[in-house]
Amino acid sequence: MKIGVVGLGYVGIITAAVLASRGHQVIGVDVDKEKVKSLNCNRSPIYEPGLDELLRKVKINYTTDYSKLSDVDIAFITVSTPTVNGKILLDHVFSAVSSLSNVLRRDAIIVMKSTVIPGTSRKAKELSGMEVVVNPEFLREGYAIEDTLHPDRIVIGGDKSAGDLVEEVWRFTNSPIIRTSLEEAELIKYASNSFLAVKISFANEIANLCERIPNCDVNVVTQAMGIDKRISPYFLKAGLGYGGSCFPKDTLAILGFSSELGEKLRIVEAAVEVNNERPLRAISAMKELMGEIKGKRICILGLSFKPGTDDTRESVALKILNLLEKEGAEVIAYDPKAKVEGIKIARNSEECIMSSEGVIIATEWSEFSGIEPILKGKYVFDGRRVLDLKKLDNAIMVGVSRCKR
Ligand code: UGA
Repeated sequence: MKIGVVGLGYVGIITAAVLASRGHQVIGVDVDKEKVKSLNCNRSPIYEPGLDELLRKVKINYTTDYSKLSDVDIAFITVSTPTVNGKILLDHVFSAVSSLSNVLRRDAIIVMKSTVIPGTSRKAKELSGMEVVVNPEFLREGYAIEDTLHPDRIVIGGDKSAGDLVEEVWRFTNSPIIRTSLEEAELIKYASNSFLAVKISFANEIANLCERIPNCDVNVVTQAMGIDKRISPYFLKAGLGYGGSCFPKDTLAILGFSSELGEKLRIVEAAVEVNNERPLRAISAMKELMGEIKGKRICILGLSFKPGTDDTRESVALKILNLLEKEGAEVIAYDPKAKVEGIKIARNSEECIMSSEGVIIATEWSEFSGIEPILKGKYVFDGRRVLDLKKLDNAIMVGVSRCKR
């Protein structure tokens, strides 16, 4: 098929690359000239395992010119949908819909892959007069290619025959395909991300409780819980909370949307509240260990919102960094992949640790396991459960009571 992909962010680039690798003719459109230029030179603007290799193997035309999509069969919309002041911003989506409706063939199909609140795609259909199908994305950063090739499920919402064409695109995955209404497909994405956020916050509250009960370790508790098939072991890992470009924005967007409808999503609200408190745990732990933190040198290991990515959007590490600076601590940081301007960065974890009195592990990069010998004599807060507490003297770990050593 001839396929257009509008919006070359995470989801757009991966979708374009995977579909091109399946033999489709793909044209990628973005308004950002620099991004288009660098993609045309085979330089990916994002770090994602396996992506550079995949982009070198496929042929995709990247352009800023929507008219190049005039003869595509399908156009995926993968533009960003930020949440601003508790409300989803749909400007990019509607601008893409309007540009597409000016250039597409009348029988072409617009596929909404961007995460949008229920009702958005129906409005897009009415405004454009085009057939619109909702096909939400469930890929995780760090596993984006694998998740696109082998998703747990594919959701396709909308008209029967238009949906059939989109089904044909993804049939190679052999994943279960669920056909729904436009609104159901839109809501499935929010309900899924919110539920995962709830699971994480639940585990984090149990972690808080474990810290107050002698001889308790949250990992032992959640691992045993997870063996129950009804609960499952995933997204039960206690730590410093969720970050990234999805859970924080999507939970707030669905809360804003539901309250406009007069329905309070109390459980999601609580999950957000618990998550907002996670960075504070790092500060209270450092105070518990060091007493005063004003004027003390503290290092943060890990800046990305999770390991395996250089993405620092809504990263808990950066929130902790700001809080430490507000408290008057001197902060230095190290991350294997993420680059952040305006902060003091060490070349490696050893340099970061050596120049500090206190250490916070904020992202569980695998290279931080086994670093106990260089942490000797430091005050350590392990917010992501990578260290062996028995090997350290002055350390606190999320979810472990201090007497369990
Ligand atoms: C998430 C979803 O997992 C995807 O299914 C979805 O497509 C995507 O959002 C999106 O909406 O586009 P992603 O943001 O890449 O994917 O990252 P996750 O792997 O889900 O992790 C999110 C955050 O939760 C990270 O900060 C991670 O450290 C944290 N987390 C995850 C925990 O604290 N505990 C866990 O047990 C799992």
